[in-house]
Amino acid sequence: MNFNNFPNIRMRRNRFKSFSRKLIKENDLSINDLIYPIFVTYGTNKKEPIPEMPNLFRYSLDMFEKEISNVQLLGIPAVAIFPKIENSKKDDNGTEALNKDNLVCKAIKIVKSIDPEIGVICDVALDPYTSHGHDGILLNGDVNNDETLKILKNQALVQAEAGCDIIAPSDMMDGRVGVIRKCLEKNGFVNTQIMSYAAKYASSFYGPFRSAVGSSGTLMGQGKNTYQMDFRNSDEALKEVELDISEGADMIIVKPGLPYLDIIYKIKNNLNIPIFAYQVSGEYSMLMSAIKNNWLDKKVIFETLMCFKRAGCNGILTYFAPEIASILHQKQ
Ligand code: PBG
Repeated sequence: MNFNNFPNIRMRRNRFKSFSRKLIKENDLSINDLIYPIFVTYGTNKKEPIPEMPNLFRYSLDMFEKEISNVQLLGIPAVAIFPKIENSKKDDNGTEALNKDNLVCKAIKIVKSIDPEIGVICDVALDPYTSHGHDGILLNGDVNNDETLKILKNQALVQAEAGCDIIAPSDMMDGRVGVIRKCLEKNGFVNTQIMSYAAKYASSFYGPFRSAVGSSGTLMGQGKNTYQMDFRNSDEALKEVELDISEGADMIIVKPGLPYLDIIYKIKNNLNIPIFAYQVSGEYSMLMSAIKNNWLDKKVIFETLMCFKRAGCNGILTYFAPEIASILHQKQ
């Protein structure tokens, strides 16, 4: 290509008028790209602020109901439910995860009673339920993979039975997608989807989330480094995704989001599966604190979400979902 052709080629010509910028845009963001993670808690009439995540709340189920009506009004296609389990219900094995009437199961039923068309996504991992805060059960000081699988598949089944549409294993145990898929098939849940957190990194960006669900507790030593991925690695992410696809994942998540766009791009270019980014709690907190201080304009939210689309995402799990959805409504 000859690069010496100015002024025949002026890149600014296409940018000059607004209609033209609209015509040449390569990517777009719509409400249909949004998944809204919501925190639930016990009690009634509670809307507890989460200090590390300004403008976000933990909802008791009656208040959650109202929030879901808002989701319905805004047309957000799906929500992801995260419970803050009371300490008295936590133990070393995360037993409460298998209670068919636990907080998550109740929340699933509420969503379905308000609008069966709203997609419900639930994490499969034991961290909200274990007293030590790990995603699985401990044997000799480490999270034991194979023993944890036995519990996770039942956790997935309990959620599917309660009406969950999409099971989202976020535990990073080896073989979990296959084991869960088999269990769902065996029990007749042939259309329950699996959206696996395939490339989930051991990240400090999850800090505010762990405060929100009260799971930061006693994580010691290596933290989650023996099961979540090392942020130095990239090829390994591709292998994780390949494995999950082969085990029966329908869609995959990359997490965290914005600092990991290279991983999203790489998966998009090498494999064929719907990709979702999780713009995690720490990313939310960073943006919100700057926005609240008027250091950044609110438009930065829209920009980050568009960047996920540009990198190759089909959609984004984001705490900004309601905010962005109402902005997108105003633009219509
Ligand atoms: C549980 C889970 C975590 C997040 C989603 N599911 C935390 C963790 O793995 O420690 C983080 C989400 C966020 O930071 O917004 N396994």
